[in-house]
Amino acid sequence: MKAKLLIGALLAFFAFCGVLIVLLAHFRGAGAEGPAQPIAFSHPIHVETVGLDCAHCHATADRSRRPGMPSVALCMECHEQAAADRPEVRKLREHRDAGRPIEWARVYGLPWHVGFSHKPHIRAGVECAACHGELRAQPRVRRVSSLEMGWCVGCHRDRTADTDCWACHR
Ligand code: HEC
Ligand code: HEC
Ligand code: HEC
Ligand code: HEC
Ligand code: HEC
Repeated sequence: MKAKLLIGALLAFFAFCGVLIVLLAHFRGAGAEGPAQPIAFSHPIHVETVGLDCAHCHATADRSRRPGMPSVALCMECHEQAAADRPEVRKLREHRDAGRPIEWARVYGLPWHVGFSHKPHIRAGVECAACHGELRAQPRVRRVSSLEMGWCVGCHRDRTADTDCWACHR
């Protein structure tokens, strides 16, 4: 009888450790610092200090799947003058002069078989921060959401949005 209890306790302990390891791996993946970028662009400076709206640079974020990154030309509208002497801004000018686009490292992305668009979300009033966190607190953009199916479906359930398989898999 005692041996059975002991084995049961041990099994429970191992199961507990397993869950802990999975959770730790999950939160490390989501919380780790984002990738280094070719130019040290800062959302806190541009969103907080300069006071720009997201749409200034991500113009189609209210409707497309991949709103994309601003062009070098758009950055240079300000940086012909603004902070022109700083090393990272010089790099920016070099890109412009060479006609070379900046190859930003991607942070968010979904597999092709998942149907997603920003459009229904922005229309329903879901904030950018609900999925991307507060950009003004991310000197380097990092992934704050797992992007796993359970994450999408969890919010859809809370917000009484569609949880039918075909809503996201067509
Ligand atoms: C001055 C232009 C500018 C403004 C304003 C701006 N962004 Fe960005 N954003 C960028 C650039 C450049 C990148 C790519 C470099 C990087 O990741 O830091 C980027 C990257 C991102 C990414 C990561 C994209 C990916 O998957 O790689 C997200 C998410 C994002 N921005 C959201 C926002 C939100 C939300 C706002 C408003 C709160 C905002 N941005 C305001 C220029 C801007
Ligand atoms: C419901 C969650 C959600 C909301 C709300 C949301 N996004 Fe996204 N965003 C995503 C996902 C998921 C991706 C990756 C899409 C893909 O790669 O197919 C993404 C990608 C991006 C990218 C990268 C685009 C690219 O071309 O690589 C930018 C920039 C971005 N979002 C900006 C914004 C801004 C700005 C807002 C608010 C106006 C916003 N997002 C609101 C989930 C969201
Ligand atoms: C609307 C004007 C405006 C746009 C558009 C803009 N910036 Fe800036 N940026 C500024 C200003 C102003 C500063 C200086 C802020 C400060 O330090 O007071 C700045 C600072 C910077 C810095 C220097 C940070 C440092 O202190 O080292 C870099 C690098 C930079 N921007 C890159 C970019 C890139 C890349 C883009 C395009 C994706 C961009 N900026 C678009 C206005 C802009
Ligand atoms: C923070 C909450 C939230 C998250 C996270 C979220 N969604 Fe949504 N989603 C919504 C809301 C709210 C709607 C709008 C429902 C409506 O219009 O009635 C919506 C609508 C949609 C629609 C349109 C459904 C239809 O039938 O018109 C699709 C497709 C979709 N989401 C896919 C996704 C995918 C894929 C993910 C994960 C990558 C995701 N969503 C993550 C809240 C969320
Ligand atoms: C709100 C959006 C949403 C709904 C609803 C949804 N899924 Fe998914 N599903 C996703 C996303 C996002 C992924 C990709 C997850 C990843 O890359 O980790 C995915 C991945 C999958 C995969 C592939 C597994 C993998 O590891 O890539 C299968 C199979 C799947 N879903 C089946 C279903 C079935 C069956 C239903 C209905 C019961 C359903 N999904 C409903 C968003 C959704």
